[in-house]
Amino acid sequence: MELEQPDPVRAGRRHRVLITGAGGQLGRALRQEFAADDLVALSHKEWDVANPPSNSLLQGSFDLVLHAAAWTDVDGAEADPQGAAAVNITGTANVASLGAPLVAFSTDYVFDGRKREPYVESDGVNPLSAYGRTKLHGEAVAGPDAWIVRSSWLFGPTGDNFVRTMLRLGAERDEVAVVDDQRGSPTYVGHLAHAVRELIDADRPRGVWHLAADGDCTWADLAEAVFSEAGVNCRVRRVSTDELGRPAPRPAYAVLRSERAGAPRLPHWREGLRACMAALGTKEAK
Ligand SMILES: NC(=O)c1ccc[n+]([C@@H]2O[C@H](COP(=O)([O-])OP(=O)(O)OC[C@H]3O[C@@H](n4cnc5c(N)ncnc54)[C@H](OP(=O)(O)O)[C@@H]3O)[C@@H](O)[C@H]2O)c1
Repeated sequence: MELEQPDPVRAGRRHRVLITGAGGQLGRALRQEFAADDLVALSHKEWDVANPPSNSLLQGSFDLVLHAAAWTDVDGAEADPQGAAAVNITGTANVASLGAPLVAFSTDYVFDGRKREPYVESDGVNPLSAYGRTKLHGEAVAGPDAWIVRSSWLFGPTGDNFVRTMLRLGAERDEVAVVDDQRGSPTYVGHLAHAVRELIDADRPRGVWHLAADGDCTWADLAEAVFSEAGVNCRVRRVSTDELGRPAPRPAYAVLRSERAGAPRLPHWREGLRACMAALGTKEAK
């Protein structure tokens, strides 16, 4: 009698896991979280996902693909929407063509921000920016069998993110002007990576999942929290989005919550900030 082979993803035993965009802030956190697996972690240089998968490292099959590569320059996408589409749409299609169980990351910027209570998975989408539109198309090409994980306002101890920018500016200046009319849930990449593993290990159904930090705040609130946690003496001047005049429109309200049964819960953003500061301290101590 032939024994049925257990599905390694469902059984929580993954033999071979691919991470794209492994040099990015989320990619690095995923590498740490999935370190016990047989990881193939490819940076932009190792696989430009805008190109079909011909890399020799992509030979053989994968039990899980964590697709963290993306064009994330929101303002840059307004100037070069085709460049953003090549990565966020064609790139995602190329990753999906591997045919493996796929986690594709998406964003709160698929919403227009007109709601005043948290966005759930069944809410209608209406991206305001070229970046948001490419990410929404990316969700579609990831396919119905992918886990589409939408998160928001990511930060971590590496890469270009708001927390690191504030730490740099706070050390140089007495005052920074920060937007106070956009509200979201700043999410620590380590907490997101952990929640993704929970989602997969618990064998939750495919489809869209909102995984973002608990709580919400404005960018100005976050800047003040960064200075307070770091003990930096820098004032935050609260300004409007219009005053700052960035090229890409952004949703005024982008708080994400899950309405789905069994959705992993992430810690509060302030806890994420403390975890990030601790990781930064460790990094600097090295
Ligand atoms: N950052 C946020 O606030 C935020 C919020 C919600 C959702 N997300 C989503 O979360 C995911 C991870 O974002 P992140 O914050 O970790 O971004 P990130 O730090 O900018 O990382 C993205 C990575 O993708 C790489 N990449 C860019 N173009 C590529 C290409 N053509 N082929 C292969 N790799 C490429 C980048 O490499 P180079 O730097 O060398 O180009 C970078 O290492 C993305 O899907 C993003 O849309 C982000």
